[in-house]
Amino acid sequence: MYEAEGVPRGRGVWRYKDLLPRLGKTVISLGEGSTPLVELPWASESTGAKVYGKLEGLNPTGSFKDRGMTVGVSIAKGLNAKVTVVASTGNTAASMAAYSRRAGLKPVILLPRGGVAKGKLLQALAHGATLIEVEGGFDHAMEAVLNLVSLDEAYIRRVYPLNSFNPYRLEGQKTIAFEVLEDLGEPPDYVIVPVGNSGNIAAIWKGFKEAGMLGLPEGKPKMIGVQAEGASPLADAWALGLREPLYTHNPRTVASAIRIGRPVNWQKALKAVDESRGAFLKVSDEEILKAMATLASEEGVIVEPASAAAYAGLLKAHRIGMIERNSKVVLVLTGHGLKDPDTLSQISLHARIERASNPQEALEAIEDLARE
Ligand SMILES: Cc1ncc(COP(=O)(O)O)c(C=O)c1O
Repeated sequence: MYEAEGVPRGRGVWRYKDLLPRLGKTVISLGEGSTPLVELPWASESTGAKVYGKLEGLNPTGSFKDRGMTVGVSIAKGLNAKVTVVASTGNTAASMAAYSRRAGLKPVILLPRGGVAKGKLLQALAHGATLIEVEGGFDHAMEAVLNLVSLDEAYIRRVYPLNSFNPYRLEGQKTIAFEVLEDLGEPPDYVIVPVGNSGNIAAIWKGFKEAGMLGLPEGKPKMIGVQAEGASPLADAWALGLREPLYTHNPRTVASAIRIGRPVNWQKALKAVDESRGAFLKVSDEEILKAMATLASEEGVIVEPASAAAYAGLLKAHRIGMIERNSKVVLVLTGHGLKDPDTLSQISLHARIERASNPQEALEAIEDLARE
């Protein structure tokens, strides 16, 4: 991984791995990263661009969070922490529970009550995490963790916080940029990322910027952050030309992973979009569900609603003339669709199910299909 040739330095050459934190002897890994970058033919055909999807759902716990968690939990272990703690909309919970247990640490997770997709909740429980359900959504759960961080350093070494304000998380997540560069051989024109707490878009941009230190072409990619209409503090601010988010007080969207009204990393995300001359967009729940259905039925890829927001964002960006023909676009498809079976059944409501009371009827149904 990350072995691409860089510019010469002294007696060796810089490689991507030189841009990653040194973790010493304790590395807690489940084989994360190196996810496929696949072309999305339906999206390419519809937009005239060359569109790729980075399938982050194929990480060990089914989302990009594993890239950051391997680094964060390794650091926690190295510090001799006893407990790890996060606020989560679900994927962080699943990931930190898996990596923490593997490290022999006790994971504690603050979740918005009733606001987490079923698969993610079950993942965290199966890994043996302690769950604390918090009333009032993710932002309240996050507030509790932020209060904890304001305690003294000795306490934090024992009870180690792993939300994306932890810089080690973002260091791991920037490897998405390195892999895209390795696979495409050059930066794409656009990278489209769903935005919640807004750490990932900042991390990916950091990766591209630092890869520039290895002599890569500058000025690419433009980072486009996509939020859901009911949880769009950054997209709303961007549309009005404001330099601070317009916090959403009661965020609502089908995309539970990005149902966040007060993103903690907003400054870094705004910087990423500014520096790359990108944009923030917002898409409706209807567009998200439609994108999720299209991805599944036309592209063969099942993603969760938050990831489908990136696809919906691409279609919107194309509609408003933001994406030039033949440009290269990477959609970061952040999490696996099987984690959210309720939304998956929602988009499958009209799926065709034939009935056969014996093998002959089944054969006839197949024959009918072959004749159509
Ligand atoms: C599937 C998925 N997509 C996107 C995001 C948003 O990432 P960030 O909070 O870093 O903006 C999350 C965060 O939980 C997620 O789980």
